[in-house]
Amino acid sequence: MTTALSSLPKEILTTNTSENVSSSLDKLSPNQQLLPLTAVVNAHDHLEIGGCDVVELVQQYGSPLYILDEVSLRTACQQYRDAFTRHYQGASQVLYASKAWSCLAVCAIVGAEGLGIDVVSAGEILTALRSGVLPSLIYFHGNNKSLDELNYALESGCTIVVDNWHELKNLEDIAKSQSTSLSFKAPRIMLRLTPGIECHTHEYIQTGHIDSKFGFDPNEIEAVFAFVAQSNLHCIGIHAHIGSQIFELQPHQDIGGVMVQWFKLATETYGLPFSELNIGGGLGIRYVESDDPPSIEEWVKTVSIGVTDAFVAAGLALPKLLCEPGRSLVGATCVTAYTIGGSKTVPDIRTYITVDGGMSDNPRPITYQSKYRAVVANHMSAALNQSVTIAGKHCESGDILIKDIQLPETQSGDILVVFSTGAYNYSMASNYNRLPKPAAVIVEGGESSLIIKRETREDLLRQDCLPERFRQ
Ligand code: LLP
Repeated sequence: MTTALSSLPKEILTTNTSENVSSSLDKLSPNQQLLPLTAVVNAHDHLEIGGCDVVELVQQYGSPLYILDEVSLRTACQQYRDAFTRHYQGASQVLYASKAWSCLAVCAIVGAEGLGIDVVSAGEILTALRSGVLPSLIYFHGNNKSLDELNYALESGCTIVVDNWHELKNLEDIAKSQSTSLSFKAPRIMLRLTPGIECHTHEYIQTGHIDSKFGFDPNEIEAVFAFVAQSNLHCIGIHAHIGSQIFELQPHQDIGGVMVQWFKLATETYGLPFSELNIGGGLGIRYVESDDPPSIEEWVKTVSIGVTDAFVAAGLALPKLLCEPGRSLVGATCVTAYTIGGSKTVPDIRTYITVDGGMSDNPRPITYQSKYRAVVANHMSAALNQSVTIAGKHCESGDILIKDIQLPETQSGDILVVFSTGAYNYSMASNYNRLPKPAAVIVEGGESSLIIKRETREDLLRQDCLPERFRQ
């Protein structure tokens, strides 16, 4: 039988030693790996990440458990940052799209690596600020920011990426009402445009008609520029984001050419003080063997060439180039460890193996039919002799984490580790069926530290109120 293990990166799963891992780390692009960069199989035949035995981590912290590899996260940040220095002649700034995983530790690490943060709510602003990131490096997105959120962002000194007319007018009202004050500082804004580049997994098309809830329609761009030019707002540039989990480079190469025409119009016809161009995020990661995303380096090189060529051809100075990766920074840096419960065999159909989490800690399979890979962390080199389906514990038939995966013989109490769970897992986790959210730990050099506490049963009742008349 061909086993799935043979198609996993063997050098990581079977032959890596701590030494050869550390010597090759900086060459690997984390978004192209199934496992965190420091993953090895140790002498106990257990999966080890960041020098920590995953089975022991579960004994210490319980399960389900998110395990974040600090080296992988820092490496991804450094690769983005350094690639821009190598490939782009102008200034650049990488922003972490914190919707992928907004928590203090992740924001603090990316901030310490010199990245800024893209936020989409007051909660994400608070998290970014409390993690120590400078407000001048926080960019606030969203297609329906409340007045309260806008005021909070402005008072905190963040830049607002304006999505639509409603928001633009709200911001101008706020600015106008404050403009006579001596301490008035015009709100720093960018404009989000829908660039007309559509992405699919294996193809892309450019369309004249754009159907997206985000951003200004390019057809109204002149009216927007005219409004901003006579407003109390300080507009520093434009933004576009074309999609997520994208493997093709061409759409990202094209984005410079689409944006430059608007940049030129804004500066030359409307006299707007544009200096920044934000091209969003979207680089994909490898969830299963067949996924083949470009490396961080290739992506940065491609967008840098696209923007440079477009601006040089238009006779414009290079803008400060911003991008907003989320998934490709944090996705492959984390795994989720579960404890296996029981199993159920439906003769001639399939065997279900249940774990102690599911769609509440990873809603991506049920939401997007996303595929994942997994191993049994306490039997890493056992033969993969059964095909099973990993079921979550929720009261929902669709709560299946992985369909038809090859695993070794398992028993109750074994530790199943699902890869690539750093992006849009914790951040989209819920308390469905009143399951407490799992803990998260960060591992590095054999040390583990809690970064998110496990919720307790009592935590689940924290926001509940029982009016007097219902009490018994
Ligand atoms: N910038 C903007 C404006 C965005 O809307 C997004 C993602 C990003 C940057 C980051 O994109 P990334 O580099 O992570 O692809 N929940 C979905 C993904 C939703 C992405 C939303 N926007 C999932 O689990 O696949």
